[in-house]
Amino acid sequence: MRAMVYRGPYKIRVEEKDIPAIEHPNDAIIRVTLAAICGSDLHLYHGLMPDTRIGHTFGHEFIGVVHEVGSSVQNLSVGDRVMVPFNIFCGSCWYCARGLYSNCHNVNANATAVGGIYGYSHTTGGYDGGQSQFVRVPFADVGPVPRPDWMHDEDAVLLTDAAATGYFGAQLGDIAEGDTVVVLGAGPVGLIAAQSSWLMGAGRVIVIDQLEERLAKARSMAYAETFNFTEYDDIVVEMKKQTDYLGADVVIEAVGAEADGSFLQHVTGTKLKLQGGSPIALNWAIDSVRKGGTIGVVGAYGPVPNAVKFGDALNKGLTLNMNQTPVKRQWPRMFEHVRNGHLTPREMVTHRFELEDIAEAYHVFSAKLDGCIKPLVLPSAA
Ligand SMILES: NC(=O)c1ccc[n+]([C@@H]2O[C@H](COP(=O)([O-])OP(=O)(O)OC[C@H]3O[C@@H](n4cnc5c(N)ncnc54)[C@H](O)[C@@H]3O)[C@@H](O)[C@H]2O)c1
Ligand SMILES: [Zn+2]
Ligand SMILES: [Zn+2]
Repeated sequence: MRAMVYRGPYKIRVEEKDIPAIEHPNDAIIRVTLAAICGSDLHLYHGLMPDTRIGHTFGHEFIGVVHEVGSSVQNLSVGDRVMVPFNIFCGSCWYCARGLYSNCHNVNANATAVGGIYGYSHTTGGYDGGQSQFVRVPFADVGPVPRPDWMHDEDAVLLTDAAATGYFGAQLGDIAEGDTVVVLGAGPVGLIAAQSSWLMGAGRVIVIDQLEERLAKARSMAYAETFNFTEYDDIVVEMKKQTDYLGADVVIEAVGAEADGSFLQHVTGTKLKLQGGSPIALNWAIDSVRKGGTIGVVGAYGPVPNAVKFGDALNKGLTLNMNQTPVKRQWPRMFEHVRNGHLTPREMVTHRFELEDIAEAYHVFSAKLDGCIKPLVLPSAA
Protein backbone atom coordinates (compact mmCIF):
# COMPACT_ATOMS: atom_id res chain seq x y z
CA MET A 1 0.00 0.00 0.00
CA ARG A 2 0.99 3.65 -0.30
CA ALA A 3 1.52 5.56 2.95
CA MET A 4 2.80 8.93 4.09
CA VAL A 5 6.13 8.46 5.89
CA TYR A 6 8.06 10.86 8.14
CA ARG A 7 11.76 11.24 7.26
CA GLY A 8 12.67 14.03 9.72
CA PRO A 9 11.52 17.61 10.31
CA TYR A 10 9.91 19.13 7.21
CA LYS A 11 10.58 15.89 5.28
CA ILE A 12 7.57 13.88 4.18
CA ARG A 13 7.48 11.13 1.58
CA VAL A 14 5.01 8.64 0.20
CA GLU A 15 6.39 5.11 0.32
CA GLU A 16 5.33 1.52 -0.20
CA LYS A 17 4.50 -0.23 3.11
CA ASP A 18 2.90 -3.58 3.90
CA ILE A 19 -0.85 -3.50 4.43
CA PRO A 20 -1.17 -3.76 8.24
CA ALA A 21 -2.15 -7.15 9.63
CA ILE A 22 -4.55 -8.07 12.42
CA GLU A 23 -2.37 -8.23 15.57
CA HIS A 24 -5.09 -8.81 18.15
CA PRO A 25 -8.52 -10.48 17.82
CA ASN A 26 -10.28 -7.13 18.39
CA ASP A 27 -8.36 -5.30 15.63
CA ALA A 28 -9.86 -4.23 12.34
CA ILE A 29 -8.08 -3.13 9.18
CA ILE A 30 -9.72 -0.11 7.58
CA ARG A 31 -9.28 0.94 3.95
CA VAL A 32 -9.04 4.71 4.18
CA THR A 33 -11.35 6.60 1.83
CA LEU A 34 -10.70 10.12 3.12
CA ALA A 35 -8.16 11.61 5.53
CA ALA A 36 -7.09 15.07 6.66
CA ILE A 37 -4.07 16.91 7.97
CA CYS A 38 -4.62 18.45 11.40
CA GLY A 39 -2.97 21.52 12.92
CA SER A 40 -1.54 19.01 15.42
CA ASP A 41 0.26 17.20 12.60
CA LEU A 42 2.22 20.39 12.01
CA HIS A 43 3.83 20.03 15.45
CA LEU A 44 5.10 16.61 14.27
CA TYR A 45 6.12 17.98 10.87
CA HIS A 46 8.11 20.74 12.55
CA GLY A 47 9.95 18.19 14.70
CA LEU A 48 8.52 19.51 17.98
CA MET A 49 6.91 16.32 19.25
CA PRO A 50 9.26 14.07 21.23
CA ASP A 51 9.89 10.55 19.90
CA THR A 52 8.59 11.09 16.38
CA ARG A 53 10.40 8.27 14.61
CA ILE A 54 11.62 8.02 11.04
CA GLY A 55 9.22 5.77 9.12
CA HIS A 56 6.15 6.73 11.17
CA THR A 57 2.92 7.30 9.25
CA PHE A 58 0.91 10.28 10.53
CA GLY A 59 -2.82 10.83 10.31
CA HIS A 60 -5.46 10.82 13.04
CA GLU A 61 -8.39 12.15 11.01
CA PHE A 62 -9.73 9.50 8.66
CA ILE A 63 -12.82 7.60 7.57
CA GLY A 64 -12.97 4.41 5.55
CA VAL A 65 -14.38 0.99 4.81
CA VAL A 66 -13.81 -2.11 6.96
CA HIS A 67 -11.40 -4.36 5.03
CA GLU A 68 -10.75 -7.13 7.57
CA VAL A 69 -11.83 -7.88 11.16
CA GLY A 70 -10.21 -9.89 13.95
CA SER A 71 -11.93 -12.99 15.32
CA SER A 72 -13.51 -11.27 18.36
CA VAL A 73 -14.92 -8.19 16.56
CA GLN A 74 -18.71 -8.13 16.88
CA ASN A 75 -19.79 -4.58 16.05
CA LEU A 76 -18.20 -4.24 12.61
CA SER A 77 -18.38 -6.27 9.43
CA VAL A 78 -16.28 -6.20 6.28
CA GLY A 79 -17.65 -3.52 3.97
CA ASP A 80 -19.07 -1.24 6.71
CA ARG A 81 -18.40 2.45 6.16
CA VAL A 82 -16.98 3.82 9.39
CA MET A 83 -15.63 6.96 10.98
CA VAL A 84 -12.81 6.49 13.50
CA PRO A 85 -12.22 8.86 16.45
CA PHE A 86 -8.60 10.01 16.73
CA ASN A 87 -8.32 8.51 20.21
CA ILE A 88 -7.41 4.86 20.61
CA PHE A 89 -9.15 3.66 23.77
CA CYS A 90 -10.09 0.42 25.47
CA GLY A 91 -13.60 1.35 26.62
CA SER A 92 -13.29 -0.47 29.94
CA CYS A 93 -10.54 1.04 32.15
CA TRP A 94 -11.22 3.45 35.06
CA TYR A 95 -10.88 6.45 32.72
CA CYS A 96 -12.89 5.09 29.80
CA ALA A 97 -15.68 4.11 32.22
CA ARG A 98 -15.94 7.83 33.06
CA GLY A 99 -15.90 9.00 29.44
CA LEU A 100 -12.26 10.14 29.60
CA TYR A 101 -11.46 8.31 26.37
CA SER A 102 -8.45 10.48 25.58
CA ASN A 103 -6.94 9.46 28.91
CA CYS A 104 -7.36 5.69 28.49
CA HIS A 105 -4.88 3.81 30.64
CA ASN A 106 -4.52 0.70 28.49
CA VAL A 107 -3.33 1.92 25.11
CA ASN A 108 -0.02 3.72 25.56
CA ALA A 109 2.90 2.00 27.22
CA ASN A 110 5.12 5.04 26.55
CA ALA A 111 3.43 7.68 28.71
CA THR A 112 1.06 7.87 31.64
CA ALA A 113 -0.33 11.34 30.91
CA VAL A 114 -1.65 10.88 27.39
CA GLY A 115 -3.56 7.96 25.89
CA GLY A 116 -3.26 6.54 22.38
CA ILE A 117 -3.59 8.59 19.19
CA TYR A 118 -3.25 7.32 15.61
CA GLY A 119 -0.14 8.52 13.80
CA TYR A 120 1.04 10.84 16.52
CA SER A 121 4.56 9.66 17.44
CA HIS A 122 5.63 7.06 19.98
CA THR A 123 4.78 9.52 22.76
CA THR A 124 1.13 8.66 22.09
CA GLY A 125 1.73 4.97 21.55
CA GLY A 126 3.49 4.67 18.19
CA TYR A 127 0.39 3.60 16.24
CA ASP A 128 0.64 4.21 12.49
CA GLY A 129 -2.00 6.64 11.25
CA GLY A 130 -4.48 7.07 8.46
CA GLN A 131 -2.63 9.21 5.91
CA SER A 132 -2.27 5.97 4.00
CA GLN A 133 -4.41 3.50 2.12
CA PHE A 134 -4.95 1.14 5.07
CA VAL A 135 -4.71 1.48 8.84
CA ARG A 136 -4.92 -0.93 11.76
CA VAL A 137 -7.65 0.02 14.23
CA PRO A 138 -7.22 -1.57 17.68
CA PHE A 139 -10.28 -2.05 19.95
CA ALA A 140 -12.40 -2.09 16.82
CA ASP A 141 -15.57 -2.76 18.82
CA VAL A 142 -14.99 0.40 20.87
CA GLY A 143 -13.91 3.37 18.73
CA PRO A 144 -15.33 3.25 15.18
CA VAL A 145 -18.93 4.15 14.43
CA PRO A 146 -20.88 3.45 11.21
CA ARG A 147 -21.07 6.62 9.17
CA PRO A 148 -24.70 7.81 9.02
CA ASP A 149 -26.02 7.62 5.45
CA TRP A 150 -27.03 11.27 5.41
CA MET A 151 -23.62 12.56 6.47
CA HIS A 152 -21.27 14.11 3.90
CA ASP A 153 -17.82 12.44 3.76
CA GLU A 154 -16.10 15.75 4.40
CA ASP A 155 -18.18 16.44 7.52
CA ALA A 156 -17.52 12.88 8.71
CA VAL A 157 -13.74 13.14 8.42
CA LEU A 158 -13.72 16.48 10.24
CA LEU A 159 -15.83 15.04 13.04
CA THR A 160 -13.02 12.58 13.83
CA ASP A 161 -11.00 15.45 15.34
CA ALA A 162 -11.01 19.11 14.26
CA ALA A 163 -14.75 19.69 14.58
CA ALA A 164 -15.10 17.57 17.72
CA THR A 165 -12.22 19.50 19.27
CA GLY A 166 -13.76 22.88 18.50
CA TYR A 167 -17.02 21.76 20.09
CA PHE A 168 -15.12 20.35 23.07
CA GLY A 169 -13.24 23.66 23.48
CA ALA A 170 -16.58 25.46 23.80
CA GLN A 171 -17.80 22.84 26.29
CA LEU A 172 -14.64 23.34 28.36
CA GLY A 173 -15.46 27.07 28.46
CA ASP A 174 -18.57 26.26 30.49
CA ILE A 175 -20.47 29.02 28.66
CA ALA A 176 -23.47 30.56 30.44
CA GLU A 177 -26.37 32.32 28.70
CA GLY A 178 -25.25 35.68 27.32
CA ASP A 179 -21.52 35.22 27.94
CA THR A 180 -18.91 37.04 25.89
CA VAL A 181 -16.63 34.37 24.43
CA VAL A 182 -13.22 35.09 22.91
CA VAL A 183 -11.78 32.37 20.68
CA LEU A 184 -8.01 32.54 20.14
CA GLY A 185 -7.11 30.99 16.79
CA ALA A 186 -9.25 30.82 13.64
CA GLY A 187 -7.88 27.51 12.43
CA PRO A 188 -10.32 24.61 11.93
CA VAL A 189 -10.57 24.08 15.69
CA GLY A 190 -11.21 27.75 16.49
CA LEU A 191 -13.79 28.10 13.72
CA ILE A 192 -15.91 25.26 15.07
CA ALA A 193 -15.37 26.51 18.64
CA ALA A 194 -16.90 29.81 17.51
CA GLN A 195 -19.91 28.11 15.90
CA SER A 196 -20.34 25.91 18.97
CA SER A 197 -20.20 28.86 21.37
CA TRP A 198 -23.48 30.19 19.97
CA LEU A 199 -25.07 26.77 20.42
CA MET A 200 -24.05 26.83 24.07
CA GLY A 201 -25.65 30.20 24.75
CA ALA A 202 -22.97 32.82 24.05
CA GLY A 203 -24.25 36.37 23.67
CA ARG A 204 -21.16 37.56 21.83
CA VAL A 205 -18.42 35.65 19.99
CA ILE A 206 -15.07 37.27 19.17
CA VAL A 207 -12.37 35.46 17.13
CA ILE A 208 -8.70 36.49 17.09
CA ASP A 209 -6.07 35.44 14.53
CA GLN A 210 -3.50 37.01 12.23
CA LEU A 211 -4.61 35.50 8.91
CA GLU A 212 -7.25 37.52 7.10
CA GLU A 213 -8.71 34.59 5.14
CA ARG A 214 -9.34 32.72 8.38
CA LEU A 215 -10.91 35.74 10.04
CA ALA A 216 -13.15 36.13 6.99
CA LYS A 217 -14.18 32.49 7.44
CA ALA A 218 -14.94 33.18 11.11
CA ARG A 219 -17.31 35.92 9.99
CA SER A 220 -19.02 33.93 7.22
CA MET A 221 -19.18 30.60 9.02
CA ALA A 222 -19.69 31.65 12.63
CA TYR A 223 -20.99 35.23 12.45
CA ALA A 224 -18.19 36.22 14.81
CA GLU A 225 -16.65 39.63 15.43
CA THR A 226 -13.01 39.34 14.36
CA PHE A 227 -9.74 40.98 15.35
CA ASN A 228 -6.36 40.66 13.63
CA PHE A 229 -3.86 40.79 16.49
CA THR A 230 -1.12 42.18 14.24
CA GLU A 231 -3.15 45.38 13.89
CA TYR A 232 -3.06 46.18 17.61
CA ASP A 233 -0.18 47.17 19.89
CA ASP A 234 -1.65 44.94 22.55
CA ILE A 235 -4.58 42.70 21.70
CA VAL A 236 -5.25 42.07 25.40
CA VAL A 237 -5.86 45.78 25.99
CA GLU A 238 -8.20 45.79 22.99
CA MET A 239 -10.15 42.88 24.48
CA LYS A 240 -10.45 44.82 27.74
CA LYS A 241 -11.78 47.81 25.79
CA GLN A 242 -14.28 45.55 24.08
CA THR A 243 -15.62 44.25 27.39
CA ASP A 244 -16.09 47.37 29.55
CA TYR A 245 -12.58 46.76 30.94
CA LEU A 246 -13.78 43.62 32.70
CA GLY A 247 -12.46 40.96 30.32
CA ALA A 248 -14.29 38.17 28.53
CA ASP A 249 -16.39 35.71 30.49
CA VAL A 250 -14.83 32.81 28.60
CA VAL A 251 -11.71 32.40 26.45
CA ILE A 252 -11.16 29.35 24.27
CA GLU A 253 -7.50 28.73 23.47
CA ALA A 254 -7.37 27.03 20.05
CA VAL A 255 -3.78 27.90 19.09
CA GLY A 256 -1.34 25.78 21.10
CA ALA A 257 2.40 25.84 21.61
CA GLU A 258 3.39 27.22 18.21
CA ALA A 259 1.67 30.54 18.79
CA ASP A 260 2.90 33.73 17.16
CA GLY A 261 2.57 37.18 18.67
CA SER A 262 5.75 37.41 20.74
CA PHE A 263 9.20 37.27 19.17
CA LEU A 264 10.86 36.38 22.49
CA GLN A 265 8.48 33.49 23.21
CA HIS A 266 8.75 32.28 19.61
CA VAL A 267 12.56 32.15 19.73
CA THR A 268 12.85 30.58 23.20
CA GLY A 269 9.88 28.26 22.71
CA THR A 270 9.88 26.94 19.17
CA LYS A 271 13.35 27.81 17.79
CA LEU A 272 15.78 27.25 20.69
CA LYS A 273 13.42 24.86 22.51
CA LEU A 274 14.34 26.36 25.89
CA GLN A 275 10.72 25.89 26.91
CA GLY A 276 8.06 23.48 25.66
CA GLY A 277 6.74 25.87 23.02
CA SER A 278 5.48 29.44 23.07
CA PRO A 279 2.82 30.11 25.74
CA ILE A 280 1.73 33.41 24.23
CA ALA A 281 -1.83 32.36 23.39
CA LEU A 282 -2.28 30.82 26.82
CA ASN A 283 -1.02 34.02 28.45
CA TRP A 284 -3.31 36.13 26.27
CA ALA A 285 -6.17 33.90 27.43
CA ILE A 286 -5.22 34.43 31.09
CA ASP A 287 -4.93 38.19 30.56
CA SER A 288 -8.11 38.60 28.44
CA VAL A 289 -10.56 36.70 30.59
CA ARG A 290 -12.26 38.50 33.48
CA LYS A 291 -11.61 37.65 37.11
CA GLY A 292 -13.46 34.47 38.01
CA GLY A 293 -13.75 33.58 34.32
CA THR A 294 -13.13 30.30 32.54
CA ILE A 295 -10.54 29.26 29.97
CA GLY A 296 -11.01 26.18 27.80
CA VAL A 297 -7.67 25.02 26.42
CA VAL A 298 -7.60 22.66 23.45
CA GLY A 299 -4.41 24.03 21.85
CA ALA A 300 -1.67 21.42 22.13
CA TYR A 301 1.25 21.75 24.54
CA GLY A 302 4.23 19.53 25.29
CA PRO A 303 4.82 18.16 28.77
CA VAL A 304 7.57 20.66 29.70
CA PRO A 305 6.41 23.70 31.70
CA ASN A 306 6.29 26.97 29.77
CA ALA A 307 6.56 30.54 31.07
CA VAL A 308 2.84 30.52 31.77
CA LYS A 309 1.33 33.32 33.89
CA PHE A 310 0.11 30.84 36.43
CA GLY A 311 0.24 33.29 39.33
CA ASP A 312 -2.05 35.68 37.47
CA ALA A 313 -4.44 32.82 36.75
CA LEU A 314 -4.52 31.98 40.45
CA ASN A 315 -4.90 35.55 41.64
CA LYS A 316 -7.74 36.16 39.17
CA GLY A 317 -9.54 33.06 40.43
CA LEU A 318 -9.72 31.49 36.99
CA THR A 319 -11.01 28.08 36.06
CA LEU A 320 -8.81 26.35 33.50
CA ASN A 321 -10.33 23.34 31.78
CA MET A 322 -8.31 21.33 29.28
CA ASN A 323 -7.79 17.93 27.69
CA GLN A 324 -7.26 16.09 24.48
CA THR A 325 -10.75 15.65 23.07
CA PRO A 326 -12.65 12.48 24.00
CA VAL A 327 -14.08 12.50 20.46
CA LYS A 328 -16.69 9.78 20.65
CA ARG A 329 -18.33 11.42 23.66
CA GLN A 330 -19.12 14.48 21.51
CA TRP A 331 -20.62 12.62 18.58
CA PRO A 332 -24.28 12.00 19.46
CA ARG A 333 -25.00 15.71 20.02
CA MET A 334 -22.71 16.86 17.23
CA PHE A 335 -24.34 14.56 14.68
CA GLU A 336 -27.64 16.33 15.35
CA HIS A 337 -26.04 19.76 15.03
CA VAL A 338 -24.43 18.80 11.72
CA ARG A 339 -27.65 17.27 10.43
CA ASN A 340 -29.67 20.41 11.19
CA GLY A 341 -26.98 22.73 9.81
CA HIS A 342 -25.95 24.44 13.03
CA LEU A 343 -22.42 23.08 12.69
CA THR A 344 -20.95 23.12 9.17
CA PRO A 345 -17.45 21.59 9.35
CA ARG A 346 -16.96 21.07 5.63
CA GLU A 347 -17.30 24.81 5.00
CA MET A 348 -13.70 25.19 6.15
CA VAL A 349 -12.19 22.71 3.68
CA THR A 350 -10.06 24.70 1.24
CA HIS A 351 -7.77 22.06 -0.31
CA ARG A 352 -7.95 18.44 -1.43
CA PHE A 353 -4.68 16.59 -2.19
CA GLU A 354 -4.00 13.10 -3.55
CA LEU A 355 -2.01 11.00 -1.08
CA GLU A 356 0.89 10.98 -3.57
CA ASP A 357 1.07 14.78 -3.20
CA ILE A 358 0.99 14.85 0.59
CA ALA A 359 4.45 16.45 0.93
CA GLU A 360 3.07 19.43 -0.98
CA ALA A 361 -0.03 19.38 1.23
CA TYR A 362 2.07 19.62 4.41
CA HIS A 363 4.13 22.44 2.93
CA VAL A 364 1.07 24.46 1.85
CA PHE A 365 -0.75 23.93 5.18
CA SER A 366 2.33 24.62 7.31
CA ALA A 367 3.29 27.80 5.47
CA LYS A 368 -0.40 28.83 5.28
CA LEU A 369 -0.04 29.31 1.51
CA ASP A 370 -2.86 29.78 -0.96
CA GLY A 371 -5.40 30.62 1.77
CA CYS A 372 -5.19 27.07 3.11
CA ILE A 373 -7.44 26.50 6.12
CA LYS A 374 -8.06 22.74 6.04
CA PRO A 375 -6.48 20.25 3.63
CA LEU A 376 -8.00 16.83 2.99
CA VAL A 377 -6.08 13.83 1.68
CA LEU A 378 -7.53 11.38 -0.85
CA PRO A 379 -5.90 7.95 -0.78
CA SER A 380 -6.92 6.32 -4.06
CA ALA A 381 -7.85 2.64 -3.80
CA ALA A 382 -4.93 0.19 -3.70
N1 LIG B 1 -6.92 18.99 22.40
C1 LIG B 1 -7.08 18.25 21.30
O1 LIG B 1 -7.57 17.14 21.36
C2 LIG B 1 -6.68 18.81 19.97
C3 LIG B 1 -7.20 18.26 18.80
C4 LIG B 1 -6.92 18.89 17.59
C5 LIG B 1 -6.08 19.98 17.55
N2 LIG B 1 -5.54 20.44 18.72
C6 LIG B 1 -4.67 21.62 18.73
O2 LIG B 1 -5.48 22.77 18.56
C7 LIG B 1 -4.69 23.80 17.98
C8 LIG B 1 -5.43 24.37 16.77
O3 LIG B 1 -5.57 23.37 15.77
P1 LIG B 1 -5.90 23.80 14.26
O4 LIG B 1 -6.01 22.56 13.46
O5 LIG B 1 -7.01 24.77 14.23
O6 LIG B 1 -4.48 24.51 13.91
P2 LIG B 1 -3.99 25.63 12.90
O7 LIG B 1 -2.52 25.64 12.99
O8 LIG B 1 -4.63 25.47 11.55
O9 LIG B 1 -4.59 27.00 13.53
C9 LIG B 1 -3.96 27.74 14.53
C10 LIG B 1 -4.30 29.21 14.28
O10 LIG B 1 -3.81 30.01 15.36
C11 LIG B 1 -3.37 31.25 14.83
N3 LIG B 1 -2.50 31.90 15.82
C12 LIG B 1 -1.16 31.80 15.99
N4 LIG B 1 -0.76 32.51 17.07
C13 LIG B 1 -1.90 33.08 17.59
C14 LIG B 1 -2.14 33.92 18.70
N5 LIG B 1 -1.14 34.29 19.53
N6 LIG B 1 -3.41 34.32 18.94
C15 LIG B 1 -4.44 33.94 18.12
N7 LIG B 1 -4.27 33.12 17.04
C16 LIG B 1 -3.00 32.70 16.80
C17 LIG B 1 -2.69 30.85 13.54
O11 LIG B 1 -2.57 31.96 12.66
C18 LIG B 1 -3.65 29.77 13.01
O12 LIG B 1 -4.67 30.31 12.17
C19 LIG B 1 -3.34 23.16 17.65
O13 LIG B 1 -2.44 23.42 18.71
C20 LIG B 1 -3.66 21.69 17.65
O14 LIG B 1 -2.53 20.90 17.94
C21 LIG B 1 -5.82 19.88 19.91
ZN1 LIG C 1 -5.69 16.65 15.51
ZN1 LIG D 1 -9.46 2.73 28.60
